[in-house]
Amino acid sequence: MVVRRQIRRRGYVLATIVLVAMVAACGRATEEQIDQALGITPTPTQDAAAIAQATEAASASPADENAGTAALGRTRFQFTCQTCHSAAGSAPDLLEPGGPWSTIDYATLYPILREGEGHSPQPGPYQTFQLTDADIANIGAFIREQAAP
Ligand code: HEC
Repeated sequence: MVVRRQIRRRGYVLATIVLVAMVAACGRATEEQIDQALGITPTPTQDAAAIAQATEAASASPADENAGTAALGRTRFQFTCQTCHSAAGSAPDLLEPGGPWSTIDYATLYPILREGEGHSPQPGPYQTFQLTDADIANIGAFIREQAAP
């Protein structure tokens, strides 16, 4: 008798556990419901392409990409170009106010500096570790600023 009652009690306990487990499983809230309950507005995860597009749009304003910054070009010019390109140098004085280089732009400067066009044999083409594309743009801005009439 005692043994049978114990077995029956175990049965009740087991049934209760199963029932609780089932209720818990069925009552599981969705992610959306949890967010709602906590007052969270989930931020949609952007895909890589969208991020790349947004980054490009933010960083590349095509108008000023090659315009350069004169203040940054000054030190570059003094360090790299001035020995030859000054009033006292062997090459044309690019900074002469109102001179022919007052309107020089990136597109003109690039082949001279990167490919060594008209710069042969000295100083020849500048490698990117010597002069970056940004340096070329900045030098251009500095020449325009100094040579302005
Ligand atoms: C070792 C001397 C030397 C250095 C350094 C040098 N140049 Fe020149 N550059 C010359 C010579 C020489 C010419 C050719 C002049 C000519 O034939 O009329 C020249 C030509 C040029 C021209 C074309 C001028 C024209 O006649 O239309 C530009 C622009 C120029 N250099 C820019 C630069 C810039 C910017 C730098 C610095 C990053 C630089 N150069 C560094 C010697 C130098």
